[in-house]
Amino acid sequence: MTVNPISLLQLPPDLDRDRLPQHVAVIMDGNGRWAKQKGKPRIMGHQKGVDTLKDLLRCCRDWGVPALTAYAFSTENWGRPLEEVDFLMTLFERVLRRELKEMMAENVVIRFVGNLAALPPSLQQEIARSMADTQNNSGIQFTVATNYGGRQEIVQACKAIASKVEQGYLRVEDINENLFENHLYTQGLVNPDLVIRTSGEMRVSNFLLWQIAYAEIYVTETLWPDFNRSEFHKALINYQQRDRRFGKVKNK
Ligand code: IPE
Ligand code: IPE
Ligand code: MG
Repeated sequence: MTVNPISLLQLPPDLDRDRLPQHVAVIMDGNGRWAKQKGKPRIMGHQKGVDTLKDLLRCCRDWGVPALTAYAFSTENWGRPLEEVDFLMTLFERVLRRELKEMMAENVVIRFVGNLAALPPSLQQEIARSMADTQNNSGIQFTVATNYGGRQEIVQACKAIASKVEQGYLRVEDINENLFENHLYTQGLVNPDLVIRTSGEMRVSNFLLWQIAYAEIYVTETLWPDFNRSEFHKALINYQQRDRRFGKVKNK
């Protein structure tokens, strides 16, 4: 594992503390290609990717980014070879079990979003435990999208709202963007300001479709297992140079 330069333990001085994204979402892509380049099986890339995520979480805490969401497994990823899917499910469970104590000590609030009921029961148990144990913590909000699909999330929100209307708890006139957002898995989280995708692919792959409506998107060629503090620094510098207009005209 590469050691990060000491200077990156704190917010680099060329970043403006008052203009940091309040929520960063990452599409952790390129694990398989990283492993392939090294002549290793794909799963080695996933294994290394866990270290990357752990350090990014710490980095967000060290630099003052209050929320991080990571895309760990999409609703489409079930279509991968069975051994890879099995490995990932076991990896998630193992990492959660191993890291929970440290996340408690570091005051992290962990949350899983996605269709969790379709995950292996033993993983569901670890997920439930980690969310329950950390829910009253006051540190960084760490969200892991697992068996997550933006379309699936929107459909389940529609169903939940429709059923409330059917039962007479809501009227059609009550449905607005705010109410809709409150039926998404991410309810209560601010929408991401910055989405980072590693490994060069310029697509969103069904990630947070509603929530990223006005997010800034940063794509780097770096493969996820190689994404480190210095890469994150570059992404934040780039983010702070963006002119976020939100559909309005420039305000200068
Ligand atoms: C991302 O890396 C991790 C998951 C989707 C679980 P990939 O496994 O997609 O790596 P590539 O894209 O094949 O290199
Ligand atoms: C997106 O990566 C999903 C995750 C990072 C979990 P994929 O590798 O699955 O996306 P595609 O297939 O390149 O669109
Ligand atoms: Mg990929």
